[in-house]
Amino acid sequence: MKNKIIEILKENKNKLITGSYIANKLNITRSYVSKVILTLIDEGYQIENISRSGYIYKSNNKILDKDFIERNICKEVILFDEIDSTNNYLKKLAKDKKQNDVLVIANHQTNGRGRLGRTFISDKTSGIYMSLLIRPNISISDAKKITCLTAVAINKAINELTGLDSKIKWVNDIYINNKKVCGILTEAQTSIEEGIIDYIIIGIGINVYKREFDESIKNIATSIEDEGSIISRNDLIITIVNNIDNYINNFSNEIYMKEYQNSSCIINKEVELNIRGNAFKATVLRINDDGELVVRTFDNKELVVYSGEITRLVLNDK
Ligand code: BTN
Repeated sequence: MKNKIIEILKENKNKLITGSYIANKLNITRSYVSKVILTLIDEGYQIENISRSGYIYKSNNKILDKDFIERNICKEVILFDEIDSTNNYLKKLAKDKKQNDVLVIANHQTNGRGRLGRTFISDKTSGIYMSLLIRPNISISDAKKITCLTAVAINKAINELTGLDSKIKWVNDIYINNKKVCGILTEAQTSIEEGIIDYIIIGIGINVYKREFDESIKNIATSIEDEGSIISRNDLIITIVNNIDNYINNFSNEIYMKEYQNSSCIINKEVELNIRGNAFKATVLRINDDGELVVRTFDNKELVVYSGEITRLVLNDK
């Protein structure tokens, strides 16, 4: 009954509906409706209870809704209140060859992992921490492009839902107003003998709502809310996953790569790169069609950077 009441509220998002309307639709009493709605409010649903008039379900609801997400992405969704890492969980699940197209989401991660062995702090209920298991029919050399494709899918979703001018920082970060709002950790299992991808786990961490950032990242991190937009995590998850699906289904025509190049915030910028412990400054010339960074070093050499990361964006236009 609780789910049916939620459904009716959602069908009438941001509209005032009366207790009798819900009661009549479900053939239950008004007092029962009121009891269930009070429990929902207690659970954190943003429902305005207007005395003697009715209820308004707010469209920017902050609660993760597994069923709603599942219905809108046509994939199995597993939702945890708390887990060590959604990537770790999916890795175990992926060993079962039958598992495909599964999305794992958590409200909170106790051991979220970032790139290069770092920790990804995953505060309770303020962000999106999710991992998607896919088994795409692509070559091992193309697998690294999945990170670019995902960055584009996220960037587009944030642009569309918030109107904010988000950008991609090579290789896997999304920035708004020069601060990081999202990171991606893509992990692949390959079968070297067969030269194919067994599976890929796409891990995505997004700061959605305001939170206290750790001292170490305070000056470089932000959230979508901090940048002026409050959106539903459910809507953002659905849009991202559907964008990823669209790009994967059209993988061969590489539309995503053009968008990746066009959405970059580092072209013509001076950056500090760290390639396997070797730090140096360079100017970014372009991102090539394999998603690699082409830079000019200070001794005027053109260099293609395959992996590593940008440790500092100096942000002087060159
Ligand atoms: C980075 O910025 O270095 C990448 C961060 C990726 C974090 C996400 S949160 C969901 C998934 N589970 C993890 O343990 N990590 C990724």
